[in-house]
Amino acid sequence: MEVFLSFMLIKHIHITCAVLSYTLFFLRGIWSFNGSPIMRQRWIRVVPHVVDTLLLVSALTLAFTIRQYPFVDAWLTAKVFGLLLYIGLGFVALKYGKSKTIRISAWLAAQAVFGYIVLVAVNHNPLPFIH
Ligand code: HEM
Repeated sequence: MEVFLSFMLIKHIHITCAVLSYTLFFLRGIWSFNGSPIMRQRWIRVVPHVVDTLLLVSALTLAFTIRQYPFVDAWLTAKVFGLLLYIGLGFVALKYGKSKTIRISAWLAAQAVFGYIVLVAVNHNPLPFIH
């Protein structure tokens, strides 16, 4: 019972961090493309890192609790690779993209990858489109 309650709590933290991570990424894209001064505020450099760290720590805690692991269970392997792709595309979108077209394309692609990760999570299946 106690293990179940803490699992549910950590799962809530994990999902809340996922929603916050997406929202912050979406907004940072818009602010960065508009040249908004918000992007120069300190919190915008700190908060997304805190959220993403919590997302990852809660992910690993959940995986250990249910004894399913990346590189053992395909759906968790897919989530890890999805997360790496989401982070990489995020760097291109917000930092390294050379033109606005490249940055906006990477921003949109990162959101598609994020959607894929959520589908994998809900279905426990690395190929959630195929049933
Ligand atoms: C952007 C990254 C991520 C997003 C958006 C995300 C999203 C989610 C969502 C929405 C759920 C709830 C699924 C449900 O029960 O309906 C979930 C559960 C879970 N996630 Fe993630 N996740 C991410 C990264 C990861 C990573 C990298 C791991 C790998 C260790 C992971 C491991 C888990 C585990 C073990 C659960 C619990 C599944 C269960 O209820 O049995 N997540 N995730």
